[in-house]
Amino acid sequence: MENIKRFISEREELNKQTLDFAGKNIKRFFNLDMNCYKAGVLDKKIKEMLGLSSSMVLRCDDCISYHLLECHKAGVSNEEIEEVFSIALIVGGSIVIPHLRRAVKFWEEINIMSQKDKFKTKTELFSYIKISLKKVLSEEMGLTDRLQMICDILSQEVKYYNWVGFYLTKDDKQTLVLGPYVGDETEHKEIPFGKGICGQTAVTNQTFLVPDVSMQSNYLSCSLNTKAEIVVPVFNKNNEFVAELDIDSHEINPFNQEDKDFLEYICESLKSYF
Ligand code: SME
Repeated sequence: MENIKRFISEREELNKQTLDFAGKNIKRFFNLDMNCYKAGVLDKKIKEMLGLSSSMVLRCDDCISYHLLECHKAGVSNEEIEEVFSIALIVGGSIVIPHLRRAVKFWEEINIMSQKDKFKTKTELFSYIKISLKKVLSEEMGLTDRLQMICDILSQEVKYYNWVGFYLTKDDKQTLVLGPYVGDETEHKEIPFGKGICGQTAVTNQTFLVPDVSMQSNYLSCSLNTKAEIVVPVFNKNNEFVAELDIDSHEINPFNQEDKDFLEYICESLKSYF
């Protein structure tokens, strides 16, 4: 997802820079390139598939990513893409394989991204995630891997969950230690109980929903991008506070009761693993 966004914004920025710099000839070439892919005798979908296959044979990753995005917009299916990939592989040979691997990954990311847009409401999205989480929770794995998987799924599936991580209680029961997470690195690897949103949750043992972090005085900033935060406590089988799930968002006021219920459901399901 981040990969796709980064690719699109970098491409836009560099195109703009190049066209500002360009003289007539370069501009003409860019126009030619654009016009060539417009629907003609061949429709847009076929043209994009041709562009994709040629880019794979010529081994240009940027061109491959671009055509994959265009193929997706034009409604190319998984089965069709697989056939395009196989033509590129046959024509280009095994030297195409590294590019094929990256193409498969990029295509899957595009699919995940578009899947997300299919959910019109939080209720639909959260029920879909609960199904993937059930699988993760039923698999054999250690606690760290399990918590990491949950972070991965949540940050991948919910657009406004921009930093997702667990803090675990230290044996002294006075300090939180950073566990598995997804997002920017944080300087808050250890947080004393009572400090920040996380530390306060460790004291109250209640979910702490902060719609706007700038309104909080007892807050530890992780990143200037963070606008809102929600911290949900995790208890073990004996109902002792053992960890918490911390989520930061780059949006103001993105969390509602549905997020709270959903995240509390996840933390509740973790009980038996602590
Ligand atoms: N903002 C948190 C600190 C942890 S970071 O968000 C990852 C807090 O105030 O406790």
